[in-house]
Amino acid sequence: MSTSTNRHDLWAPEARANPLPVYARMRQEAPLVRLFDPYYKVPIWMATRYKDAVELIRDPRFTKDMRKLPDSSPSKQLRSGESDVFNQHMLSVDPPDHTRLRTLVSKAFTPRRVEELRPRITAISHRLLDAVQTSGSMDLLDAYAFPLPVTVIAEMLGVPQEDQDQFREWTNIVINPPLDGDLQNVRKAGMQFAQYFQGMMAKRRAEPRDDLLSALLAVEEQGDRLSPMELTSMLFLLLVAGHETTVNLIGNGVWALLNHPEQLERLRANPALIESAVEEMLRFRGPVETSTQRWATQELEFRGQVIPAGETVVASLLAADHDPEHFAEPERFDIAREPNRHIAFGFGIHFCLGAPLARLEGTIAINLLLERMPRLRFAEDPARLRWRDGILVNGLQRLPVAF
Ligand code: HEM
Repeated sequence: MSTSTNRHDLWAPEARANPLPVYARMRQEAPLVRLFDPYYKVPIWMATRYKDAVELIRDPRFTKDMRKLPDSSPSKQLRSGESDVFNQHMLSVDPPDHTRLRTLVSKAFTPRRVEELRPRITAISHRLLDAVQTSGSMDLLDAYAFPLPVTVIAEMLGVPQEDQDQFREWTNIVINPPLDGDLQNVRKAGMQFAQYFQGMMAKRRAEPRDDLLSALLAVEEQGDRLSPMELTSMLFLLLVAGHETTVNLIGNGVWALLNHPEQLERLRANPALIESAVEEMLRFRGPVETSTQRWATQELEFRGQVIPAGETVVASLLAADHDPEHFAEPERFDIAREPNRHIAFGFGIHFCLGAPLARLEGTIAINLLLERMPRLRFAEDPARLRWRDGILVNGLQRLPVAF
């Protein structure tokens, strides 16, 4: 099977600009559709209906731990030799390791703890808008949506902001492997991340501070709860997850508002709607299009389909969040939608740890933007905006706006 024989080519540029018609066909066709991933050159099974997506994500017969796969698994073969930094964090293991790793950091991400960051997130947002206010236009992603969450997570972890550009480059490589299937750069970026964090750890060991890195180092030094590689891998996950997600919540959210002027006016008139507006932005064009991969440890049957041992399954969160069986008029963008039980943050034990932080960042950033820029509008024809390659992260390449 090659990408050109994919009956549902989710990777085609027109599908990147709008994947919803492809997902509508897939939802009609079957509970699970077998596709061919042109990046990794492996088959993947995808669930697109809401009920199936939720079932698949919580089915313990699928593992997140590559080490449990038979050596014959194409995914395992493909990824052999890559840095352990990719494989030893909470999103790439099952219980009991998952429970142990998640518990170590979960306190720092509770809604209560995250709420304490409100003044700081507001101050950073103001500072970023101050820097562009008089210029009349900006790329919303570069000037605002990207630096905000990156600054916040860098401060929480305790990694210097000056290294931001470096993180952005490595993260981009890791999230968007090249279509030619050459994974050398991905491996190299993984290695560079690991080396970078090892250097940071040495510094913090010598001089602890009041940050997550120092707190995790203290746990690691106590003994058997966190190995040095698990610690490095955890820092990698938090940094990457804090980079590539909230930026697209803000970007896709503002894009949706500008495309729906009546909803934009509604929010301007009643900023208290922001929390439900952010939920609708997450549902309508969530930043994480598909779940991360899971694998069948042994041959098994799911919804009448036999999945061979070692093969990959994913759930399309975006497709599930547009399932008409679950959402009334799913194509309608309604900032006061109720109920709105979307799965943009995933489901079950791997439900996004950073959800309270992302929600807070999104609500502050968008309301402040609307408040300070009453004439906000697209600076280019929205039909010509380009979306990013790849089906994991859904976001624009640039979002030029005028104000
Ligand atoms: C709007 C922004 C965000 C979205 C849409 C999002 C989405 C997701 C999704 C869908 C998953 C589950 C993946 C799966 O089960 O395959 C996940 C997991 C995770 N997210 Fe987020 N995320 C966002 C922001 C963040 C932020 C800001 C952080 C933290 C800095 C974060 C940290 C994590 C972590 C650590 C996990 C793994 C949890 C586990 O395995 O138990 N996320 N996220």
